[in-house]
Amino acid sequence: MIGCTNCLHSIIERLSIEQPIVVMAKQARKLSTEQNVSKVTNFHSFVDENAHDDSQKVAKLYDDWATYDQDVKKVAYKGPTIGGDMISKHCADKNVTILDVGSGTGMVGEELHSRGYTNITAIDISQKSLDIARQKGAYSRVVLTDAVKEQMPFEANEFDVLVCVGCFIPGHLNQKCFPDWIRVTKSGGLIVLVMRESFLREGEFGNGQFDRAVQDLIDSKKWEKVYTRIYPEYFDDYDGVVFVYRVL
Ligand SMILES: C[S@@+](CC[C@H](N)C(=O)[O-])C[C@H]1O[C@@H](n2cnc3c(N)ncnc32)[C@H](O)[C@@H]1O
Repeated sequence: MIGCTNCLHSIIERLSIEQPIVVMAKQARKLSTEQNVSKVTNFHSFVDENAHDDSQKVAKLYDDWATYDQDVKKVAYKGPTIGGDMISKHCADKNVTILDVGSGTGMVGEELHSRGYTNITAIDISQKSLDIARQKGAYSRVVLTDAVKEQMPFEANEFDVLVCVGCFIPGHLNQKCFPDWIRVTKSGGLIVLVMRESFLREGEFGNGQFDRAVQDLIDSKKWEKVYTRIYPEYFDDYDGVVFVYRVL
């Protein structure tokens, strides 16, 4: 069970019990992937948690990260698959309008496109990442915007589904985005958030800040919880967590 018992995420189910052989295999794999893990895990050592005050720092980090796809694949990053699983599970209609917030190079779009979803919009702060995303042919639109500082350039109730994978990282996106996410998502639509579980206890998410933002929106009947779950080995040895909310 996760640290604080009163937190929203303390009720998330942990589904795997590790056997010794699995632990040994993971240790061996950890050594072989150490360098790549270091690059992916240490985001917050070179992007400070106030980076949204100078969003160009974040944009530059990703503009300069030409090998992003290869690097995250080497550490068995499962964020896009988890996001795809959640949308397939909760939204059978392949014609829905989907907004991929913090799309980066488009791994989530690729995943959704391979599952038959065709109406996907990407939004990100990194132009070079969006260029790569566009080339993959999975998105009908790509939009360059700072999704923390600015209201996103979309109409109210424009999307059936909003998905955000791997972007709730100190200095990147955070719970301040929730009201704008709810604004652009239709009533009855879904919001799917996938992130590293340990970040819930760190920086701008920690001390109950993430949980309070979620709960305030439940209490004010802006959204309701549909599903939450911990995913072991979201990448390498790190757990992930998925949250699915329905906009009311
Ligand atoms: C770790 S990547 C995840 C990309 C993709 N969702 C994936 O799962 O591969 C984080 C993304 O968040 C984007 N990002 C960070 N801060 C942002 C902001 N303020 N507005 C829009 N995008 C932002 C970055 O440019 C980057 O593409």
